Amino acid sequence: MTTTNGDSAIALALKALAAHAEDIKPGHLRALFAEHPRRFEDFSLVAGDILMDFSKQRITATTLKLLHDLARARDMEGWRRRMCAGEAINHTENRAALHMALREPPDPQSIIGREVAQNLARMKDFCIAIHSGAWRSHNKERVTDVVNLGIGGSDLGPRMAVRALAACQQPDLRVHFVSNMDSADLAPLLARLNPRATLFIIASKTFATLETLSNARTARAWIKSSLPAALTGQTREDAIARHFIAVSSNLEAAAAFGIPAEQVFSFRDWVGGRFSLWSSVGLSIALAVGFSNFEALLAGARAMDEHFIQAPATRNLPLTLALLDIWNVNFIGAASHGIFPYSQSLELFPAYLQQLEMESTGKSVDRQGQPLTLKSCPILWGSPGTNGQHSFFQLLHQGGQPIPCDFILLKHADFPLPGHHAQLLANALAQSAALAFGQTPEEARASGIGEDLLPYRTFPGNQPSTTLLLERLTPHTLGQLLALYEHKVFCQSVLWNVNAFDQWGVELGKQMAKRLLPRLEDDAEISAGDSLDASTCGLIAALKK
Ligand code: F6P
Repeated sequence: MTTTNGDSAIALALKALAAHAEDIKPGHLRALFAEHPRRFEDFSLVAGDILMDFSKQRITATTLKLLHDLARARDMEGWRRRMCAGEAINHTENRAALHMALREPPDPQSIIGREVAQNLARMKDFCIAIHSGAWRSHNKERVTDVVNLGIGGSDLGPRMAVRALAACQQPDLRVHFVSNMDSADLAPLLARLNPRATLFIIASKTFATLETLSNARTARAWIKSSLPAALTGQTREDAIARHFIAVSSNLEAAAAFGIPAEQVFSFRDWVGGRFSLWSSVGLSIALAVGFSNFEALLAGARAMDEHFIQAPATRNLPLTLALLDIWNVNFIGAASHGIFPYSQSLELFPAYLQQLEMESTGKSVDRQGQPLTLKSCPILWGSPGTNGQHSFFQLLHQGGQPIPCDFILLKHADFPLPGHHAQLLANALAQSAALAFGQTPEEARASGIGEDLLPYRTFPGNQPSTTLLLERLTPHTLGQLLALYEHKVFCQSVLWNVNAFDQWGVELGKQMAKRLLPRLEDDAEISAGDSLDASTCGLIAALKK
């Protein structure tokens, strides 16, 4: 979608940024703060319940102007319009990316709007049936445990949201998540559960994912083995089915697994797996925290959608977050990005974000099939901040690599205990300031540090970070936070000119695993015809010995 004029505008914008980076790189955040006392006012934005302070990024007003020039040259507005209009912007799969439609206000005039509303109504009815105890298992027991069997986008988003919203947990219902095909994930859980009071949600967009189907088959066998021997034939099948719900866009495969149509919650192929927690994939969230809280999550995301669509570029949180990433990766030289929620409830947020970002923009071929000339997605990693302080923060402070960080803070604790929250916040603020400003040898000396230890007790600083401050952690603010990062990823994909919505890179390993399985399971010797590499052959032989 870029014209020759567009191409030259992009080249000019990149060139201007590269020249500007030469001026900025040798500088220090200390100097930037000293020269610009209103940095916080000028480099912070608010949308809804989120304040974003990016004054500790290594930028000036010129940097932002040049980054916005790049966004314009990349036709950011045009791409956003195309996404909202439902164009097949996922060109390698010929699909739209309409996850925003899942949280739009109900619109009975549109086909999609009607479908979304109907689906939400079904989810709501199902939640009421489970929470009220109207839904009973085959022997009339109430469901006490729900197990979501899914992986990737069918696991990470719901698992993270359920963990984040623990303060809203429904009484008398436990929701568990199993993703790994390693039996060490499922087996210990089954050992604790009562099959007669357990309901499984098989969450898989394709209903073809090996890990999920493998766990689903085992769960089915487990339920079957708990049934009275007197149950046979269709009665037995109906009893088993009472313990399974499917969430999928592959209705035939769900039916073939034995799940009745009325227990299948569908979603469309225009919902990417890592953008799917707003769809039927969020059933486990709605069950765990109640349907009204799930609606509040959608409403929070919708508020951020509206901001993303309506706010001017220079006030736009997702766009700004994306531009800062481009700056850090492509001009400051960052290869990784730390995510540090100062919130135990958000402990799974970095893992969720790893899929959202790295599966979306971890690519090196552009939309025209050409190799990218710029690096794309950095390696994302992170953990709750206080825990990180006592492990890997050492490298951030003195490891000598530029590693931009996102600090995520809650103004009010979700599980308040006297004295805790102020300490937590003090630590978060101390870390971002220490990373930005460091400690000079003179300061170290002035604080009484001897000459012999000076080299070790000097902190270079200049580590860029953004702080996101949420009023409190609620379904509504969580929705805002997740949509903020979703739109950031979309903006990055436009800036890097990659398709954010496919994931071909995960296919090769899956195909190879299929070929290798018989070699591990059979007694057959490996032959030259298998064309396996020497390392894989050696490892198979060692495993079978
Ligand atoms: O292998 C990657 C992937 O396709 C993800 O994109 C997806 O979220 C995950 O597997 C699970 O896929 P499904 O929901 O179809 O089981």
